[in-house]
Amino acid sequence: MSGRTVLVAGGAGYIGSHTARELERAGFTPVVFDDFSAGCREFCEGRRTIEGDLLRPGDIRAALAADRFEAVLHFASLIQVGESYADPGKYWRHNVGSSLNLLEAVRDAGVRNVIFSSSAAVYGAPREIPIPETHPLDPISPYGRTKEVVERMLADWDRAYGVRSISLRYFNASGADPAGGLGERHVPETHLIPNVLASLTGGGTPLSVFGTDFDTPDGTCLRDYIHVTDLARAHVLALERLVATGRSDVFNLGTGRGYSVLEVIREAEAVTGRTVRWTAAPRRPGDPAVLLASNEKARRDLQWAPRLSGIGEILRTAWEWHSRR
Ligand code: UFG
Repeated sequence: MSGRTVLVAGGAGYIGSHTARELERAGFTPVVFDDFSAGCREFCEGRRTIEGDLLRPGDIRAALAADRFEAVLHFASLIQVGESYADPGKYWRHNVGSSLNLLEAVRDAGVRNVIFSSSAAVYGAPREIPIPETHPLDPISPYGRTKEVVERMLADWDRAYGVRSISLRYFNASGADPAGGLGERHVPETHLIPNVLASLTGGGTPLSVFGTDFDTPDGTCLRDYIHVTDLARAHVLALERLVATGRSDVFNLGTGRGYSVLEVIREAEAVTGRTVRWTAAPRRPGDPAVLLASNEKARRDLQWAPRLSGIGEILRTAWEWHSRR
């Protein structure tokens, strides 16, 4: 096996598979660890994969014993905010319990570097816009709390065991790699852009717009959409920085530019030449009116800048993926 081998837990998922591709582009050898409960086998084509479940400590210990891994990137997680309110136990078990199994195995295998998929959900309702990394962590959903707890677990792992980590707080990952073959596919799909595009295809159900009475210019929520390939590239830069400096850190990944739900709908209509059918629906629990990242820290310390994250490019690549399926 070539040098710079890294384990990508959850590497068959949407962001994990894009990052595995980006790691290869940068000369790493990613090995995917996934239970394929949500991930796609076709997203791993041509890549070494190990099938296993983070809830079974023996699976991840065996995977880490299979090679000398320079780092572990941890994407495996449940991601539905709404479901996390209805069944928090499932979220604590899958997001926190499995992370504990993973981090104990990482420590015991002597792996020194971890990159963790965190979320803007750790901030809760923002007290400051754009949101800097120094904003208090005060999540409002069980999902957000599980992400915050894993960040804190990682800080303890650094102090006690010398495991270094970078937590990346994603804003709204979206789009698909322009090279094709990868895209967003969740079951059920709860995210705005795939739902907008699904409403455009034959027989698709009309989009529900959750909340039209927010304190925003058009009454719908403003979000910071970041192209998944830009997000993936930031993981490679974060890993390089972690290895070079040996210093744990956290970074927001977003563009700092917001689009409302209605603006996304209008842009989708412009890109596809079709009309989005939508109806107003009540607010979803846990949706803040505005989420916008300050990305100054990532720009400065990771030398990262979004390249594909214009809303037009996001929708164009997402539509290309969606309409081929
Ligand atoms: N929305 C709709 N209709 C839909 C889907 C979404 O109106 O069918 C709205 C939402 O209410 C929200 C916006 O579109 O205002 C974006 O919603 P998404 O579900 O696409 O994204 P979120 O901002 O809710 O979620 C994202 C990540 C989560 C993460 C969260 C942090 O996808 O994993 O940010 O707050 F937890």
